[in-house]
Amino acid sequence: MSDKKIIRQFRDWLKREKRIDLNLDSLEEEILEYSLQGLSYSMMSDRIMNYDLSYISNIKAPKLFRKLRQFTGLDINKKNCKLTIQKILTSDQPQVFQKITGNLSHINLREAPDFNDFYGRTIELDKLHQWIIKQHSRLVGIFGLTGIGKTALVRELVENIKDDFDYVIWKNMEFSSDWEQFITHLESCFGYHSSEISPYPRILNLIDYLKNHRCLLIFDQWEVVMGDTTSSENYNKLLSQIGNLQHQSCLLFTGLQKPTIIDSIRNKNKIRQLSLSGLDNKDARILLEKLKLQDPGIDTLIRNYKGHPLALILVSENIKSVHNGKIEKVLDSTLFLDDVLMDLLENQIYSLPSLQQNIIKKLATEKEPETIFEIYQYFPDSSQAEISAAINNLWKVGVMEKDDMLEEIILWVINPLIQKYIRRRCR
Ligand SMILES: Nc1ncnc2c1ncn2[C@@H]1O[C@H](COP(=O)(O)OP(=O)(O)O)[C@@H](O)[C@H]1O
Ligand SMILES: [Mg+2]
Repeated sequence: MSDKKIIRQFRDWLKREKRIDLNLDSLEEEILEYSLQGLSYSMMSDRIMNYDLSYISNIKAPKLFRKLRQFTGLDINKKNCKLTIQKILTSDQPQVFQKITGNLSHINLREAPDFNDFYGRTIELDKLHQWIIKQHSRLVGIFGLTGIGKTALVRELVENIKDDFDYVIWKNMEFSSDWEQFITHLESCFGYHSSEISPYPRILNLIDYLKNHRCLLIFDQWEVVMGDTTSSENYNKLLSQIGNLQHQSCLLFTGLQKPTIIDSIRNKNKIRQLSLSGLDNKDARILLEKLKLQDPGIDTLIRNYKGHPLALILVSENIKSVHNGKIEKVLDSTLFLDDVLMDLLENQIYSLPSLQQNIIKKLATEKEPETIFEIYQYFPDSSQAEISAAINNLWKVGVMEKDDMLEEIILWVINPLIQKYIRRRCR
């Protein structure tokens, strides 16, 4: 059967059995046809005009296969699409489906949140794809302000890349602060129970699985397990061993801060970090338009909130309910911070080391951006090295921003949401 005919019959089958219209755009149609022919993405990009390889392989194809999986309930991917669709077309017996799904990789996304919409972030998705799939990074950390979109980004990425792995396991650290329960659950995801009790041999057992299989572990909200308890020591050991030892897997984790243990990992080539900032204007605009906000004022609103998606979502609710949808009504007043966001920011700020907290509190009261030399003056008891390390960290997690340059010296400011938080709390 020709590939075009397979697609036609598959479309008919979806209509007949699932009452679903397979509406593919022309690029998706081409990707599906070439995938049925077994072409690689780079061969596809040679044949398809106007679209580059990374757009096809990182964005469009994963979306297409996700759609097919949703429609059929089967784990269709680029590698198995021909076989799977042919099986669908030749047999409608339920056992066939069980058999197809039975051969699947072990994907455990029970703890992964479900987001409805996701916009943009193509540069970030591209970069993460490059690090994890092409460069086989072992440890990838994503850091940034609370609500900036770390979890949403990882959720989208995982959907796009999960077919490349034998195991995908998502852990939300908010529910995993007990080490014993956490490691036991991970072991059970791999289908074994360790007879070891002490942490180190158990970590080594786990790494054997990471060696023998290609696994993607996702630990979301890592900040929850940072600290100086015995549990956090074990979590740190796990992180450093995954970074230091040889294996073929990847641990992708998100956090409000970078764990200091990361700096002690020797092979820097295998570790990557992404500092996530707000959505760019184009994507934030799509977000706001979906939330039914209209110009005038969208661009200014995005700029004032630095593209922070959660803050924008919350302020839109306020604009709609209190200001009848008129954005201009909030542009002249100070930033609107919903109580939910206040609590989240509080968590973020109070989880920072004390020098970093003192720097933000001091700078939040200043009207003008400051040079690092001015900041040194405020803290005579700390060394310049300590202060510049603290500022570097605050910058990486999005709390401080580079405002401008003054004779080649950077001027620092606090992120406006953090500034608003501090000013409101310390009033
Ligand atoms: N790229 C995006 N497109 C659409 N919504 C987004 C995007 N990024 C974040 N959001 C929304 O913003 C909110 C906060 O995102 P989340 O990923 O939970 O932040 P974080 O994990 O950094 O605290 C969520 O409601 C999420 O749906
Ligand atoms: Mg999150």
